[in-house]
Amino acid sequence: MAKVAGLDAFKENQEVEVIDASKKVKIGIIGTGWIAESHISQYLRMPDVEIVALADIVPGKAEAFAKRFEIEGARIYDSDEALIAAEKDLDGVSICTYNTQHAPCAIHALEAGINVMLEKPFTVTLDEAIEVMKAEKKSGKILTIGFQPRMSENMQMIKKIVDSGELGKVYYIQAGGGRRRGIPTPFGTTFIEKETGGLGALGDIGCYSLDMLLGAVGYPKPLTATGYVSDYFGKDPAYYPGHPEYAEKFGVDDFAAGFVRLEGDIVLDFRISWAMHMNTCGDALILGTKGGLRIPSTECWNGEFDRPLIIYKTLGDQTIEYSVPLKPAGDLFYNKLRSFVDAIKNGGKATVPSSEIVINQAILDGLVRSAKEGKEIEIVIPEV
Ligand SMILES: NC(=O)c1ccc[n+]([C@@H]2O[C@H](COP(=O)([O-])OP(=O)(O)OC[C@H]3O[C@@H](n4cnc5c(N)ncnc54)[C@H](O)[C@@H]3O)[C@@H](O)[C@H]2O)c1
Repeated sequence: MAKVAGLDAFKENQEVEVIDASKKVKIGIIGTGWIAESHISQYLRMPDVEIVALADIVPGKAEAFAKRFEIEGARIYDSDEALIAAEKDLDGVSICTYNTQHAPCAIHALEAGINVMLEKPFTVTLDEAIEVMKAEKKSGKILTIGFQPRMSENMQMIKKIVDSGELGKVYYIQAGGGRRRGIPTPFGTTFIEKETGGLGALGDIGCYSLDMLLGAVGYPKPLTATGYVSDYFGKDPAYYPGHPEYAEKFGVDDFAAGFVRLEGDIVLDFRISWAMHMNTCGDALILGTKGGLRIPSTECWNGEFDRPLIIYKTLGDQTIEYSVPLKPAGDLFYNKLRSFVDAIKNGGKATVPSSEIVINQAILDGLVRSAKEGKEIEIVIPEV
C-alpha cells in the first residue's frame, strides 16, 4: 500500500492501494465449483493478475466457468495433475477443490514449484497436513490457507485484546456459534459425503472457530483431546424436503464437541454445529486472570459480529464491563487473495501459514480420533 499524490496527500491515515500492473502474476484455478467463483471474481479485480488456466474433473465444468466469467483465453484441463504438468510458468494456483482433494492437489502444485492458496480446511487429517508441509518445505514456495476472517479488523481485535495483557494470563477458551439448521446442501452433496467432504461441521466451520480463538492466544500446541461427533440430523431423510436421498449420502459429522488441553495450562472447550435444536452453541469466551472476553456468537466466515465484544473486569471490589465497538469487516475475500498475490510479487510470506494451521488440523483430527476410540487421546504433531 502506498499514498497517492494529490488530494489523497491530505488523508493522513488513509492509504490507497497502488498496483504495478506491468508485472502480471499468472494464476491457475483448480476446482471450478462454488468457492472458485469468489476466487475468480476477486482476481478479475486485480489488473496485475492473469488467469491462465482452469481445471475441473467434471467434464465441461471448467469450460462453462471460463465462459461465465468471460475468460475464454484460459487453458482448460480435466485434472489438477494435467494442469500442473502442462503449465510451466505458473506463479500460483488457487486450490478450490472439495476437502479430500486439498492434500493431493497442494502436494502436486508444491512439488512442481508453484505457490499455493489452499482453501480451508487445511486438509482432512493431520497426516495429510504433514505431507503437504513436507512438500512446502522442500519447494520453498508459499503455502497460505484460505481463512479470510483473518483479514477482518473485528477478528484481529480479539488478538489485540489478548496481546495487550488486559485479560492477564489466559487459561480457558470456549467456542460458541454453530448453526441451527444449516447443513450445506444447496450446492450439491460434496460437503456431506465422506469421499469428498471428509469432515462435516468440524472442517467447514469448526476450523474458523478454532482459528479465531487459537490465533488470539498464539496457537499453543494441543496435548490431549476428548471428542464427540454425531450425525443425527444429517442422517435423517426428513431433514431434506425434496431430497430424502441426501440422508443416505451423509457420511460426516453435523455436530461435534470436545475438550482439549493445550500447552501453557490453557483448555479449549469446543462445540460446533451444522444442525441442532438450538439457535446457537452460545457466545465464545476467553477467560484470563485479569479479565474475560465475550465474543458474540458467530460462524466467523464473514468476519462480522452482530454485537460488540465485551470485556469483563474487576476494579477493587467493583465488577465492570465495557464494550469494544465493531468495525466494518472489510473486503475480506479480496484481501485474502490480494495478500497471496502480493506475497508472490514481493517474495513475501504466507498470510495464514501452515505452521499455525497444522495445530488447528491436529485438533480437528484429535477430536475425530477420540470420538472414534471413545476416550481421551494424546495429540502429537510430527516435526517437519
Ligand atoms: N473460504 C470460504 O469462505 C469457503 C466457502 C465455501 C467453500 N470453501 C471451501 O472451498 C472448497 C470447495 O468448496 P465448494 O463449495 O467450491 O465445493 P464444490 O464441490 O462446489 O467445488 C469443488 C470442485 O472441485 C472439483 N475437483 C475436485 N477434485 C479435483 C481435482 N483433483 N482437480 C480439479 N478439480 C477437482 C470438483 O469437481 C468441483 O467442481 C471446500 O474445501 C470448502 O471448505 C471455502
